[in-house]
Amino acid sequence: MNILAIETSCDETAVAILAAKKDSDSTVYTALGNALYSQASKHAEYGGVYPNLAKREHQKNLAHLTEAALKEAGLHRVQKNAVSAPDSLFANVREGEFRESIAAFLEAVEKPNIDFIAVTSGPGLEPALWTGIVFAEVLGRAWAIPVIPVDHMEGHIFSALLETEKINSKLQETNSKIKFKLSLFDFPLLSLLISGGHTELVAMKDWFQYELVGETRDDAIGEAFDKVARLLDLPYPGGPEVSRFAAVARERGILPLALPRPMLNSADCDFSFSGLKTAVLYALRDVPKPLAEEVRLSVALGFENAARDVVIAKTRRALERTAARTLAVGGGVAANTTIREALGALIQDEFPNTALFLPNRALTGDNAIMIGVAGHLRNQSDHVSSEPITARGSQCLA
Ligand code: KG4
Ligand code: ZN
Repeated sequence: MNILAIETSCDETAVAILAAKKDSDSTVYTALGNALYSQASKHAEYGGVYPNLAKREHQKNLAHLTEAALKEAGLHRVQKNAVSAPDSLFANVREGEFRESIAAFLEAVEKPNIDFIAVTSGPGLEPALWTGIVFAEVLGRAWAIPVIPVDHMEGHIFSALLETEKINSKLQETNSKIKFKLSLFDFPLLSLLISGGHTELVAMKDWFQYELVGETRDDAIGEAFDKVARLLDLPYPGGPEVSRFAAVARERGILPLALPRPMLNSADCDFSFSGLKTAVLYALRDVPKPLAEEVRLSVALGFENAARDVVIAKTRRALERTAARTLAVGGGVAANTTIREALGALIQDEFPNTALFLPNRALTGDNAIMIGVAGHLRNQSDHVSSEPITARGSQCLA
């Protein structure tokens, strides 16, 4: 089964082609093609993601990236008797240039060997989501294949459950494409989803049955990393930069700035990160600018430690509450080494009967591979909604 997966929920335009094959007890996914364009540098001057710019960039790049992914997958065939794509296909495409780029693409390529399209339908930036959905639906109609809506956060959950190393070391000689095997895991599964737009603890009791256990009441953790980075004059996206500064501070033995751990002792699994960012702002208010390097290092370390402590405390509480047998971590902040190590220690020391799954670093950020996997798992177990696909702005999974 071949899947074309499309992700445009935020500032990454991503298209992947996956081949899914049943193994004895699991499924093996081969990333036949993977084309990703990050708009991060274009949004950098806004210090965050600017929705209409994201939409324009997705529109500009989707057809090219799809063509590139098909070529990489060896599924690209030039249309011999080019016929123009009928107008009726484009009823929902309002923008002229977008329409022209899709029409040119459809006229140039033959219908590829793809069984269905998986597309992110939310949560995310609504204009950005619509772009991917409209694109997927035009292709789906032109090629007469189904389009399956996928929840972005569900994609992040499954990204943690894709095992790469073992299977790749066996298969490397015969095939250079990256293969992922879906890990075997037990329910209940608890997912810790930490990204630029979300901070959630979601329990999955059985396939696709979710319950929200905790979430942020204000900023997302990645957003807090990005805002603190801005206070330190570090570029967007700020998470990796703050983390790099914190690592240098540790190496040099610099003391962390003392910062609060918001909601650490509240009797729930909710988070709050805006107070932490404000505490950094106040701490720096009377410090002479430009900030001395030692100050920046100390702030980065203090902030990363505080964010880590809150994540660990709330995850501990959620593990206790849900009696989870599996902890799956996903989202851009799941790339953070300090948080990964602390989660490893938490499971090893306090929850030895729970299995921890951290995503391969290549899959922590937004990507289309995780969308294709989620779409395939839903498709094969008949968990596909038959409602018309709409973009769900910020509505969450559970
Ligand atoms: O999942 P993602 O790529 O996009 C969203 O759906 O939000 O997450 C992006 C977020 C950004 O806020 C970025 O600063 C953060 O993930 N991030 C990190 C690290 N790498 C990315 N935060 C902390 N440490 C990192 N190493
Ligand atoms: Zn994401």
